[in-house]
Amino acid sequence: MYRTHTCGELRISDVNKEVTLSGWAAIVRDKGALLWIDLRDRYGITQLVMDENYTSKELFETARSIGREFVLQATGTVIERASKTNKIPTGEIEIKVTELKILNASKTPPFTIQDDTDGGDDLRMKYRYLDLRRNAVQKNLLFRSNLAIESRKYLAGIGFIEVETPNLIKSTPEGARDFVVPSRMNKGQFYALPQSPQTFKQILMVAGFDKYFQIVKCFRDEDLRADRQPEFTQIDCEMSFVHQEDILNTFEGMTRHLFKNVLNIELGDFPRMTYDEAMRRFGSDKPDMRFEMEFSDLTDVAKGKGFPVFDSAESVLAICAPGCAGYSRKQVDELTEWVKRPQIGAKGLVYVKLEEDGSLKSSVDKFYSQEDLKQWAERCGAKTGDLLLVLCGEEEKTRKQLCELRLEMGTRLELRKAGDFKPLWVLDFPLLEWDEEENRFFAMHHPFTSPKPNDIPKMESNDRQVLKSMRADAYDLVINGSEIGGGSIRIHDRDLQARNFKLLGFTQEEAEAQFGFLLGAFEFGAPPHGGIAFGFDRLCSVMNGASSIRDFIAFPKNNQGRDMMIDAPDAINPKQLEELGIKIVESKP
Ligand code: AMO
Repeated sequence: MYRTHTCGELRISDVNKEVTLSGWAAIVRDKGALLWIDLRDRYGITQLVMDENYTSKELFETARSIGREFVLQATGTVIERASKTNKIPTGEIEIKVTELKILNASKTPPFTIQDDTDGGDDLRMKYRYLDLRRNAVQKNLLFRSNLAIESRKYLAGIGFIEVETPNLIKSTPEGARDFVVPSRMNKGQFYALPQSPQTFKQILMVAGFDKYFQIVKCFRDEDLRADRQPEFTQIDCEMSFVHQEDILNTFEGMTRHLFKNVLNIELGDFPRMTYDEAMRRFGSDKPDMRFEMEFSDLTDVAKGKGFPVFDSAESVLAICAPGCAGYSRKQVDELTEWVKRPQIGAKGLVYVKLEEDGSLKSSVDKFYSQEDLKQWAERCGAKTGDLLLVLCGEEEKTRKQLCELRLEMGTRLELRKAGDFKPLWVLDFPLLEWDEEENRFFAMHHPFTSPKPNDIPKMESNDRQVLKSMRADAYDLVINGSEIGGGSIRIHDRDLQARNFKLLGFTQEEAEAQFGFLLGAFEFGAPPHGGIAFGFDRLCSVMNGASSIRDFIAFPKNNQGRDMMIDAPDAINPKQLEELGIKIVESKP
């Protein structure tokens, strides 16, 4: 028997027990006559002690040969510690070792296996198996496992069936590029890895499954960010005979269940906001609702007073930073530089301070009277001691820039508190999104999303503005400014789906070639249906207030899409290429 207990299990009540533990040597402390080893496994750390007074010479010799991360088996008696610690649950006891076996040696690890490790990112990813020994990383994966189990419990509990869908499929357009897999048996042809199981889950509804879910890997070849990985996981769901309201309620229920059962947190309201309202009030379709700082539109009151920058701008928009009137020149200059960085791209920043003496001090005093500035302050609902921050320019761009500034101010003022969770449903997304470069419409969610019934007649219009104004039965779940999930009510009518493909620039032949199977299925009694997919990695990171989803993925890719441990992607051998009928052509610079 390798062990009678784990390294996190023994307590003062176990004193005098004979035990055997197995684990890794985290720390060896050799004080000459006394030697301690911290033995670690995934359950915790237990201190082993050897004392010249009672430990055999031979055992001492063995102990002295042990380096960090050696795998050990120790047998001994549980004794009360002389110097207790409450930093670890086993801190009141130690093991007086009578037998010690080295089960395996270890090279000296390239970084310390501790919460605050000295290993850089690349090194930790290369030696991910060592990184995964760290408590902080194990905790995250344990969390992920619990979250998956609780998701399954909730969904199974209300009658959802888990169905696996294939990974070798053909392209499903979710807006990213596909990863492709060459077919040996069908030379010159390729599978695509699913960007999501979207079409399959709809087909399952046609097949009558009624309530489907799957915790499923999805693959998207897109630029990577902290909250994006090329392969990531969704809790993917679909339901038949439902309206939007049924889906929102079901998945509000699931979200509440997960927060309650995994974090023991009762979530408050799930307010709802249309896409238009979110853009108007916060400049974003995923506003962080942990703090206010809503936008105020000053365009009509700020223009026409002789300030050329505002006069020539389409929009003048402001936020009110509470209690920031005392910002020094240096602080304001620094904020100005911040908004002028290329990532934000504002031309400049105008401020108004509501001073304690009731006066208003601004960077544009030359053009605006106290009365003018008071009007601005009123519009922003500002009070004495507050600071107005004003940006201007083309409306859409200015909203995006002010959104970034709002988030930055929220962070600086510590209004985005960890442990505070504010969910929000964003509804009524536009059906279509115009792409300037390609000079055509794309589906904002995906091509299977249903227009709002009242907007269906607009599909016949040739007017770009009319088409842009169409709204979809599409919704996102946002938590703390992060898009956690998205879904829609689907088109279940063959003709409507064909019309939608046409709107998106597919010829009839292209639509037939790519989606003939779905259009065909719709001819055999497709029920009304809709669904949603949660970004599972994102949910993990948001629930933990973490900044990157990589912390919750056992083997993540780096920013270049590389797995540093196995060193992928990699070339394949010429024979494999030949079998696949692939010739590598050097691309010319
Ligand atoms: P969507 O494309 O909105 O919808 O994706 C659903 C959720 O998946 C997460 N997500 C990602 N997470 C990590 N890395 C990525 N690269 C990544 N891309 C997306 C987000 C997002 O909200 N088939 C539809 C769902 C439906 O309509 O039912 C879909 O995939 O949290």
